Amino acid sequence: MPQKSYGLLEGKKGIIFGPLDETSLGWQIALSAHREGAKLAISNIGVALRVGKPAELAKIVGDAPLIQCDVSRSPEIDICFKEATEKLGGKLDFVVHSVGMSQNIRKGLAYEESNYDWFLKTLDVSGLSLHRLIHGALATDSLNDGASILGLSYIAAQRSFTTYSDMADAKALLESVARSFGARLGPRKIRVNTVSQSPTFTRAGSGIEDFDKMYEFSDMLAPLGNATAEECGDYVITLLSDLTRKVTMQNLFHDGGYSAMGMTIPMLHLMHDALADEDNMRKAGFTDELIQRNRHE
Ligand SMILES: NC(=O)c1ccc[n+]([C@@H]2O[C@H](COP(=O)([O-])OP(=O)(O)OC[C@H]3O[C@@H](n4cnc5c(N)ncnc54)[C@H](O)[C@@H]3O)[C@@H](O)[C@H]2O)c1
Repeated sequence: MPQKSYGLLEGKKGIIFGPLDETSLGWQIALSAHREGAKLAISNIGVALRVGKPAELAKIVGDAPLIQCDVSRSPEIDICFKEATEKLGGKLDFVVHSVGMSQNIRKGLAYEESNYDWFLKTLDVSGLSLHRLIHGALATDSLNDGASILGLSYIAAQRSFTTYSDMADAKALLESVARSFGARLGPRKIRVNTVSQSPTFTRAGSGIEDFDKMYEFSDMLAPLGNATAEECGDYVITLLSDLTRKVTMQNLFHDGGYSAMGMTIPMLHLMHDALADEDNMRKAGFTDELIQRNRHE
């Protein structure tokens, strides 16, 4: 059932970086923001504007200006903010960073074998770019006091998820930039937060090795199940609204409770049964030492 509008963003203007297609978190955030009354600008990198569907989204959300911008290029960012404020007719009340990319993951390189040029690109595009965006927004005087800035993160910033590779380091950087800028923007009542979302089947998400298994695991463990992209859109709206005006420098988990869980009885039983079969364990990649340790003699 479609959500009703609470008018939470009535009178607000904002820009969303990173919607590609309907699966994108940025896409769903844009739909929710539009429903709540915001006036939007949509941005993505050139190739995404050509091969993805941001233009379609821009139409759906009230003929929003569509602005090409590579978030790893500061001069483009400055131009982007100038264009956004000009076309929206005033300064912005929110900025959403929904951007991520790792060539090391795309090319299937193990973390231990990371290509360092790609690693630096991952950190730049997926983490440092939040710094670049905030810097650009301030330099071009594009933000209203009380604005909300939000980035999308993942729990691999705090805990090890081996297949998340260099994106884990990029997310740690992203969350740290949010804290560092949050502290500095307090006098202007500008908030900076990140939302740590459940695994979600998007273009970026699905590129991760064994993503379907990560998805299943957290879905089974989380008391509320994985949060969907649509639910992410709804949650993010609260953080862009005035109702959360004293929330800043936080990384907020939107994951059905997964991050606070240890184990459930059914999962424990399932694991116990699976571990009874040594061939199964070998197939799953357990070392001989672990198999040995698991023997209860
Ligand atoms: N999908 C998940 O499981 C999941 C979970 C937690 C957090 N996130 C985060 O959510 C955010 C959005 O990703 P998504 O899952 O919706 O995937 P997505 O592929 O739909 O969106 C990623 C976007 O980043 C854009 N992008 C890449 N390089 C860029 C650049 N240099 N400049 C501007 N834009 C660029 C892409 O064009 C794409 O639109 C990312 O930060 C991602 O890490 C995703």
